[in-house]
Amino acid sequence: MIKILVTGGTGQLASCIAEASLNHIRNMEFVYRSSAELDITNLKAVSKEFETGNYDFCINCAAYTNVDAAETNPSFADAVNRMGARNLANISSEKNTILIHISTDFVFDGSNSLPYSEEDEPYGLGVYGNTKLLGEKEIASACKKHFIIRTSWLYSEYGHNFMKSMLKYGKEMDKLSIVYDQIGTPTYAKDLADVILLLIEKNIKSYGTYHYSNEGVASWYDFAKAIFEINKITVSVNPIRTDEYPSPAKRPSYSVLDKTKIKDLLGIQIPYWRNSLLRASEVYQKNNLVT
Ligand SMILES: NC(=O)c1ccc[n+]([C@@H]2O[C@H](COP(=O)([O-])OP(=O)(O)OC[C@H]3O[C@@H](n4cnc5c(N)ncnc54)[C@H](OP(=O)(O)O)[C@@H]3O)[C@@H](O)[C@H]2O)c1
Repeated sequence: MIKILVTGGTGQLASCIAEASLNHIRNMEFVYRSSAELDITNLKAVSKEFETGNYDFCINCAAYTNVDAAETNPSFADAVNRMGARNLANISSEKNTILIHISTDFVFDGSNSLPYSEEDEPYGLGVYGNTKLLGEKEIASACKKHFIIRTSWLYSEYGHNFMKSMLKYGKEMDKLSIVYDQIGTPTYAKDLADVILLLIEKNIKSYGTYHYSNEGVASWYDFAKAIFEINKITVSVNPIRTDEYPSPAKRPSYSVLDKTKIKDLLGIQIPYWRNSLLRASEVYQKNNLVT
């Protein structure tokens, strides 16, 4: 039996992993720990968890993910995104546990005009991007057996995300303004969850950093328009520039990820973002989750 610890166990991605795990091989046993059950900033608690759990893998879904709030709470963001990652890396290394850590397109400054590869120099945009980048570095230096998977624009029926916000606001308002000059790729968190489990299932040993998002390219404006079109919501969407919608944290203007490395590693084709959005919307509607 392969024993897998999932930290941040009640978050969006962890919830998708729990669902995706039902479709994967049977010899995996998952232990999900919420932030209350396992605070990754507490080294003693992490050590105790690994001591009793005897895990083969740890999937770190725990993070301080509020990009704007991080600007005024840098020490909280640092504690979770850097020190928490370091704690998991140190203990994983000690216990010979393979650490799968999730990172973000915010480790890039957004100045590229072609998709970012794993070889591109990261920068760490704002407090969130910087603490996530420092977390990656802690992991790479402390734990040989690691996978760092950078992803972008996660959404699903779980947690807080852009798709759910649009479904809510689209019903409440007649008109919305959405930025069109930030370009990236939406990623259905269930697609990412499947890929993480495939990595485990295939017993891959090529450790290192990988990029994963859905295929294709969109602006937030395009993403919003697609959400409304697919869900048959009538609302007027006004495209605006980033400087017309000031926010505390800077966001990358271009953060499309090159996924060649993970596609070659796993021999997979990645779903196009609109097709995944269609699947996600069907699930949402089937469960009567549209508010
Ligand atoms: N969401 C995106 O658009 C996006 C894009 C790119 C990359 N990512 C990365 O993907 C990963 C998963 O994101 P997500 O969307 O699933 O985020 P999420 O829904 O916000 O989940 C994060 C989880 O981490 C937990 N957490 C926070 N502090 C913790 C601590 N000290 N110890 C243990 N758990 C703690 C949170 O618990 P509480 O709720 O109890 O605080 C929450 O359950 C993160 O690494 C994130 O940086 C996300």
